[in-house]
Amino acid sequence: MTKYVVVGSGIIGLYTTFNLLERGVSAKDITIVAEYLPGDESINYTSPYAGGNFSCITDDDPKTLQYDKHTYTNLAKLQTELGGPSCGLDRYVSTEYWDTRPSNEKIESLASYLQEYQVINTGELPKGVAFGIRFRSWNFNCPKFLSNFKDYLEAKGVTFVKKHLTHITQAYISSSTKTVFNCTGIGAHKLGGVNDTNVYPTRGQVVVIKAPHITENVMRWGEDFATYIIKRPYSSDQLILGGFMQKDNWTADTFREETEDILKRTTDLFPKILKDNPSGSTIKDLEILRIVSGLRPSRYGGVRIEKTQVEHYKYLVHNYGASGYGYQAGLGMGYEAVRLALGPDSKF
Ligand SMILES: Cc1cc2nc3c(=O)[nH]c(=O)nc-3n(C[C@H](O)[C@H](O)[C@H](O)COP(=O)(O)OP(=O)(O)OC[C@H]3O[C@@H](n4cnc5c(N)ncnc54)[C@H](O)[C@@H]3O)c2cc1C
Ligand SMILES: *[C@@H]1O[C@H](CO)[C@@H](O)[C@H](O)[C@H]1NC(C)=O
Ligand SMILES: *[C@@H]1O[C@H](CO)[C@@H](O)[C@H](O)[C@H]1NC(C)=O
Ligand SMILES: *[C@@H]1O[C@H](CO)[C@@H](O)[C@H](O)[C@H]1NC(C)=O
Ligand SMILES: *[C@@H]1O[C@H](CO)[C@@H](O)[C@H](O)[C@H]1NC(C)=O
Ligand SMILES: *[C@@H]1O[C@H](CO)[C@@H](O)[C@H](O)[C@H]1NC(C)=O
Repeated sequence: MTKYVVVGSGIIGLYTTFNLLERGVSAKDITIVAEYLPGDESINYTSPYAGGNFSCITDDDPKTLQYDKHTYTNLAKLQTELGGPSCGLDRYVSTEYWDTRPSNEKIESLASYLQEYQVINTGELPKGVAFGIRFRSWNFNCPKFLSNFKDYLEAKGVTFVKKHLTHITQAYISSSTKTVFNCTGIGAHKLGGVNDTNVYPTRGQVVVIKAPHITENVMRWGEDFATYIIKRPYSSDQLILGGFMQKDNWTADTFREETEDILKRTTDLFPKILKDNPSGSTIKDLEILRIVSGLRPSRYGGVRIEKTQVEHYKYLVHNYGASGYGYQAGLGMGYEAVRLALGPDSKF
C-alpha cells in the first residue's frame, strides 16, 4: 500500500524518506522510484560525484541558513542510525577562506552552531583572503554513504523501484498513492508535467588522489573560482581536489587542462599535499585515482520546496534544486518538504 512515492534516489530523495520515517510514517507505505539508484553512475545522477563536505558557501537567505543548520545539527542522529562513521560519514577539521567577507547574517548563523568554530587571525590568512574560519565539519564518502543509506531504508521496509518516468503522473503508482515527492535533481529540467526551465547544471570537475597524509579539508572561495581539498572518509585514503563552478554546462567529459589547473591551485593553497606526500614532492608524484565531472542541480530562484495539489486528495511536493549543497542542506530540505506534506510539527 504505497501512500508515499519519492521520485529520485539521490541524497535529496533519501533524506526526504528518512524524514518521513522520523515523522512516524510506516516504511511499508513508502516507495522510492528512480531511474538511477545508489551504486549506479551517470552524468544525470549527481549525488555519487559530490566531494561531500559540509562547507560554508551556501547562499545567505534565511531559509538556506536554516536548512544548513538543521542538517549540521541532525546528522549525528543519522550517522548513528546507519551504524557509525564507517557508513561513510565522518568528521574532520575544515579551514575555509573567502576573498570577499561573507555577510554578517551568515557569519552569525555559522558561529551559532558550528562546533570548534574559530575565526582565523588576519595575520595568518593567505594573500588575497579577507576572512577565514576553522571548524569541525562533516565529510561524506558519497557513493558509500548512498549505498548504506539505501540498505538502511530497505531494511526498514522501504521499497525501491528502478524506473524512468516520462511524466509526473506515472509516479502515482497505486490508487492509495496520495503524495509524491519530486526529488529529481537535474532531471527536473526535462521531465514532462511541470518542466522547470529554471533548473540548470553547474558543472564541476574533481580529481581524486591517494593521500594518506591529509586528514583535513581546506577551501578557498574567490570571485570566480572555487578551490577545495576534501578528505573522503573510509575510502583507503582518498582526497578530493576541486574544482569548477561552470554555469549551464552539461558536459560529462573531463579535461586535461582542468585537471592540471586543479592540481596547481590545490597544492598552492595547501602545500602539505606535496610536502608530506610519501611518494614524492612534485605534482607528477601524486597518485591520481580518478577524474570525474558532475552536474550540480542549480535553479534560478533557489531550491524549490513547494506543495501543489494535482487532483482531489492527491499532492505533489517538490524538493529539488539543491545545487552544490545537497549533502549539507538536504536533511533540512527534506524536513521542510515532509512538514509541508504531513503538516507542522513543533521544531521548524
Ligand atoms: C563536483 C561536485 C561536488 C559537490 N560537492 C558537494 C559537497 O561537498 N557538499 C554538498 O552538500 N553537495 C555537493 N555537491 C552537490 C550535490 O552533489 C547535489 O546537491 C546533490 O547530489 C543533489 O542531489 P539530488 O538528490 O537533488 O539529485 P541527484 O543525485 O541527481 O538524484 C536525482 C534522482 O532523481 C532521479 N530522476 C531524475 N529524473 C527522473 C525521471 N525522469 N524518472 C525517474 N527518476 C528520475 C535520478 O535517477 C536520481 O535517482 C557537489 C556536486 C558536484 C557536481
Ligand atoms: C542525461 O539526460 C539528458 C537530458 O534528459 C539526456 O539528453 C541524456 O541523453 C542523458 N544522458 C545519459 C548518459 O543518460
Ligand atoms: C565542498 O562543499 C561545497 C558546498 O557544499 C561544494 O559546492 C563543493 O563542491 C564541495 N567540494 C567538493 C570537492 O565537492
Ligand atoms: C516537457 O518535457 C517533456 C520531456 O522532455 C517534453 O516532451 C515536453 O514537450 C516538455 N513540455 C514543455 C511544455 O516544454
Ligand atoms: C518534478 O518537477 C519538475 C519541475 O517542476 C517537473 O519537470 C517534473 O515533471 C516533476 N517530476 C516528477 C516525477 O514529479
Ligand atoms: C563546458 O566546459 C568545458 C570544459 O571547461 C568547455 O571545454 C566547453 O566549451 C564548455 N561548454 C559550454 C557549452 O560552455
